[in-house]
Amino acid sequence: MPVEDLLAPAWQDRQWSQAPSGPARPGSTMTLPALHSLACEVAVFFARSEVTLSSAQQAVLAAVLSRDERARAERFRFDEDRRTYVIAHALLRRALAAQASVPADSFVFRVGEHGRPELEQPQGARRLRFNLSHTRGCVVVAVTYHADIGVDVESVERRVEHEPVGRRVFSDAELHELQALPAQQQRARFFDLWTLKEAYIKAIGQGLSAPLRAITFTAAAPDPVPVRFDPPITDDAAAWTLRRHVPFAGYRIAVAWRGDHAQRVRFIETTAEALLTA
Ligand SMILES: CC(C)(COP(=O)(O)OP(=O)(O)OC[C@H]1O[C@@H](n2cnc3c(N)ncnc32)[C@H](O)[C@@H]1OP(=O)(O)O)[C@@H](O)C(=O)NCCC(=O)NCCS
Repeated sequence: MPVEDLLAPAWQDRQWSQAPSGPARPGSTMTLPALHSLACEVAVFFARSEVTLSSAQQAVLAAVLSRDERARAERFRFDEDRRTYVIAHALLRRALAAQASVPADSFVFRVGEHGRPELEQPQGARRLRFNLSHTRGCVVVAVTYHADIGVDVESVERRVEHEPVGRRVFSDAELHELQALPAQQQRARFFDLWTLKEAYIKAIGQGLSAPLRAITFTAAAPDPVPVRFDPPITDDAAAWTLRRHVPFAGYRIAVAWRGDHAQRVRFIETTAEALLTA
């Protein structure tokens, strides 16, 4: 069965690109919906990044970034990577602005021990959490309140040494399941497992310092994806919800958050163009 058929159909894709007319206003909060209006606990916004943007349009998107973010964008060697970074960070700021009703350029981030960015927020404010992922062709931002959250997007066309990487990052049970599949299904399953694993390790903020082989996902099961933790991980598997999504053919998204399975997630497509005219 193709992996797409295993994904939960409960919350459908929707295009959210109706932008208000008029000139670009970098500080605007208009484009993306807030969690309360979506009636969900987790929103995952995604957009294609293989789009044609003039340098003026890219500058409009970059106008909401901080000076450091703009400087980082400038350091990319390839235009494609620069554009992906700028769209991802503009999407992040727009998605946060939509929740907090403040200008997109007003957010300040601090970076945790393993490089995880978090929002600097006033004491007592409702704690807005997020995570960001980008790969050539697709950018994604997940937002929620309070809960640890992680997201990952990958292209299944990405060139990876499947066997050595699999042995390093997948548990024995995951490897066994993967190898039992017909060859033509293994690539999709590999990236399914990979994105799930990255979403979880990003949610706990540990990145690759986490013991990856102590985490087992049953990717053949329908969403929410069952997870098991083995020592040295002492986390409670029942406390986590993991969901997958195919944003476009050839890409996989996984999102992990600390919350029960009754919590709702919405996957919402937007476009770089819509972010431009916000
Ligand atoms: C955090 C990490 C796990 C993700 O990296 P990645 O897949 O290359 O990149 P993604 O696009 O998914 O995520 C990058 C974003 O996550 C955020 N991030 C950075 N460190 C993070 C951490 N420790 N926890 C959560 N989020 C983090 C940042 O916003 C970053 O974007 P930015 O640099 O533009 O600000 C990274 O530590 C890494 O080294 N990845 C290597 C990938 C790998 O080999 N995975 C094995 C399969 S599990």
